[in-house]
Amino acid sequence: MTYIDSEFHRTKARELMKDAELVFDADAVQKAVDKVAQELNQRFDADDSEAFPLVLGVMGGAVVFCGQLLTRLTFALEFDYMHVTRYGSKDQGGTIEWKVIPRSNVEGRTVIVLDDILDEGETLAHVKERLLQMGAKEVVIAVFADKDIGKAKPCCADYIGLTLPNKFVVGYGMDAYGYWRNLPAIWAVKTGG
Ligand code: IMP
Ligand code: MG
Repeated sequence: MTYIDSEFHRTKARELMKDAELVFDADAVQKAVDKVAQELNQRFDADDSEAFPLVLGVMGGAVVFCGQLLTRLTFALEFDYMHVTRYGSKDQGGTIEWKVIPRSNVEGRTVIVLDDILDEGETLAHVKERLLQMGAKEVVIAVFADKDIGKAKPCCADYIGLTLPNKFVVGYGMDAYGYWRNLPAIWAVKTGG
């Protein structure tokens, strides 16, 4: 979510960390990134038919995961990004807005989509469909975290770093009111709207 910076949001952002609850510390976060890297390396180092994939980060939440994961990947890859946000009614999936579409050629390619978190799965379901429409041969999804929301999702991730409880979290790319993406650990916060 993109917030317009205001004193109201700054105050909210500062206050909600006062009773934030640590969900995963920085060590656990790094181990989760190692795990995803290892799994991707195993697959993409081995299989020539999937060689030279295009890796696409979903900005802005994926920024930290992308940056740290990329340095651990050992196969030849091209990197690009897209900027997609979802807003509106959660019940009806909301409206997906493409702020930046990838300019790289996706046609006939294996595309690895990286994102911070799979929550209700609407965003990544839409992204996957659009990339397939654009001619991608295959879309592989890797997320830093999968939120356990207790119901089926329209899209599943192929690779998952951590499973999170159904709470609103900040850190490792995830924000509240536009803040705290920079934290190296994962904290649950009460946003209160
Ligand atoms: P989905 O369509 O519900 O899967 O939305 C996923 C997007 O919502 C993620 O890429 C995040 O940008 C954002 N999001 C979902 N849950 C959280 C959270 O707990 N904290 C911060 N951002 C979140
Ligand atoms: Mg996002």
